[in-house]
Amino acid sequence: MYVCICNGYRDSEIEKTARAGGLTCPVKVYEALGSGPCCGICLPMAQDIIDGTHEKSACVPLPLAAE
Ligand code: FES
Repeated sequence: MYVCICNGYRDSEIEKTARAGGLTCPVKVYEALGSGPCCGICLPMAQDIIDGTHEKSACVPLPLAAE
């Protein structure tokens, strides 16, 4: 799905770039993809995708063994 019409960025590209670079800011993700935002209308949606990406990849602690 296209998220940024100005740059033609898809949700999958945003997610992959945010995960690979550990990026949490949509502007930084766009710059890593090659071009920063233009109109900026897509930034809230991009932020939601990035936030979801990092939640999915967050480390889940294992339960500690009982003593
Ligand atoms: S739609 Fe993304 S900067 Fe315009």
